[in-house]
Amino acid sequence: KTEELILAIETSCDETSAAVIKGGTDIVSNIVSSQIESHKRFGGVVPEVASRHHVEQITLIVEQAMKEAQVSFSDLDAVAVTEGPGLVGALLIGVNAAKAIAFARGLPLIGVHHIAGHIYANQLVRPLTYPLLALVVSGGHTELVYMEKEGSFTIIGQTRDDAVGEAYDKVARTLGLPYPGGPHIDRLAAAGEATISFPRAWLESDSYDFSFSGLKSAVINTLHNYRQRGEEVKVEDVAASFQQSVIDVLVGKTKRAVEELEVKQLLLAGGVAANKGLRAALEKEFSSSVELIIPPLELCTDNAAMIGAAASIKWKQQRFSGYELNGNPGLSL
Ligand code: KG4
Ligand code: ZN
Repeated sequence: KTEELILAIETSCDETSAAVIKGGTDIVSNIVSSQIESHKRFGGVVPEVASRHHVEQITLIVEQAMKEAQVSFSDLDAVAVTEGPGLVGALLIGVNAAKAIAFARGLPLIGVHHIAGHIYANQLVRPLTYPLLALVVSGGHTELVYMEKEGSFTIIGQTRDDAVGEAYDKVARTLGLPYPGGPHIDRLAAAGEATISFPRAWLESDSYDFSFSGLKSAVINTLHNYRQRGEEVKVEDVAASFQQSVIDVLVGKTKRAVEELEVKQLLLAGGVAANKGLRAALEKEFSSSVELIIPPLELCTDNAAMIGAAASIKWKQQRFSGYELNGNPGLSL
């Protein structure tokens, strides 16, 4: 059987999700239950609240994914789950659910790295061709990942401080916008002009690493100064200027990596991949030089379909996990 059927589960942060994926490329079902409303009033994800929601939701979401896929447990070839990184209490809910299903149905268990999932979301869009480069931008990660072949990940650059999404969320909070702030800044940026000059952290000339905490502080200080002087500043312009600075660095470093490593494809991955400004800038920059894949919005933010796609690679290689599988908040790629 080549078109294996995998039930995948994702509970690493604030989305409870289950999906059924066929052959690593076809989404048979993909159910996502977001907890954002519950975390909003705290201005960020509260781990205890997240765990409680996952416990309440997991059985329902798995049942819904199976029902929508119109398959029974006996049709499945494996159960996959995000084992890390993420919030440990949140990860444990998914891992234990997956273990229970695998044990009860005698199915192989596959632990998946969350970022491998984000990258393999692109395989649900189009076949991947190696070597490739993935720009991973999320609330917890900012990485340039080189993949020489299927299942092989080399991080060539990463953030030295804040992740991009984290910088978006912190700047948004200073602007009085609700959590998560990324989409709000994106929307405001489209209506503003990049008139304020914020720093761009290029770091050493040969480095693919990123740094966003200086930019974040610069935005916060600038806002503070305007307020102190009693001057008005258009939030749209602040958002546009901040976003332009982020995009310049992301696109600039990615461009150098694409050229130096001579990759066949460039993939965009992670929650910040939903950013309209970034998507447009990448399309403009790489339309002729490399094959660019950008997943649709619903596959950019956390979902179990991407975990099922990544699990398919391990399934083909028969790389299964044992029942000692555990949530690992610091799991490396
Ligand atoms: O991948 P994800 O759903 O969760 C993590 O694994 O971190 O990413 C969430 C992050 C949040 O920081 C959120 O503000 C950001 O992605 N985000 C955006 C946009 N949509 C979501 N950032 C910028 N522009 C957007 N349109
Ligand atoms: Zn994520």
